[in-house]
Amino acid sequence: MPETSPVLKPVLEVSGLTVAFGATTAVREVSLTAAAGTVTGILGANGAGKTTTLLGVLGLVPRRAGTVAFDGRDVTALETGALVRAGIALCPENRRLFPSMSIEDNLLLGAYGHGRKVRRARLDRTYERFAWLRDRAAEPAGRLSGGQQQAVAIARALMSEPRLVLLDEPSSGLSPVAVDEIGELLAGIAADGTAMLLVEQNVKLVQRLCSTAYVLSHGRVTASGPVADLLRDDAVSDAYLGKAG
Ligand SMILES: Nc1ncnc2c1ncn2[C@@H]1O[C@H](COP(=O)(O)OP(=O)(O)OP(=O)(O)O)[C@@H](O)[C@H]1O
Ligand SMILES: [Mg+2]
Repeated sequence: MPETSPVLKPVLEVSGLTVAFGATTAVREVSLTAAAGTVTGILGANGAGKTTTLLGVLGLVPRRAGTVAFDGRDVTALETGALVRAGIALCPENRRLFPSMSIEDNLLLGAYGHGRKVRRARLDRTYERFAWLRDRAAEPAGRLSGGQQQAVAIARALMSEPRLVLLDEPSSGLSPVAVDEIGELLAGIAADGTAMLLVEQNVKLVQRLCSTAYVLSHGRVTASGPVADLLRDDAVSDAYLGKAG
């Protein structure tokens, strides 16, 4: 009998996620998966529901329906703190650093709730990956360039030692060179086996990092599959390039 190829078990399985703000349903019956060591894209125009989908995974917005499974376990009922401890981290839209706080204190927020020893060990691991941060650790985060601030936001997310990182438009507002650097950083994190869900409007970054993606339109998944196939589709390109185009 021919051997069948092993199926990558998804780290994250979202099924039928629906999120509403009062009378506005921002996300409708969204189902998606993300696997270890891969970057899965979430594409869509302004207001399509991309951010709400990420926040919905973490329970940061009111879910009306749907289930979330992480590592094969139903975690729908867990609150956000428990989901973070289970291994899901968010690198939020607009980075959300505290500009007047030191870089190190910003990083430490990513390991909130852990004891001194654990936080110190995680900082040391962070400075191994981001060597340039060690010398600048005491500087206010707001003094860094946009690209450097994005790197700190990603480093802060990694401080919880996640198995899944939710990234919301990390290229936003960055120069092409800085976007390339962020791309390299994210590729390295994926290569370490971390799963990522990447909301992005930068086509080049999506092509570089994502093998598969989901397209959201008015809160629904309207297409999904290999990125190369999606970008060949005019309707998808129109939706996807809604902001950039
Ligand atoms: N806290 C909120 N209260 C009310 N409506 C909201 C809230 N957050 C988002 N929405 C609405 O939900 C819809 C989806 O918003 P969301 O921020 O998820 O879109 P997005 O795809 O991330 O857009 P963008 O590309 O601009 O970041 C929009 O119509 C938005 O106005
Ligand atoms: Mg958004």
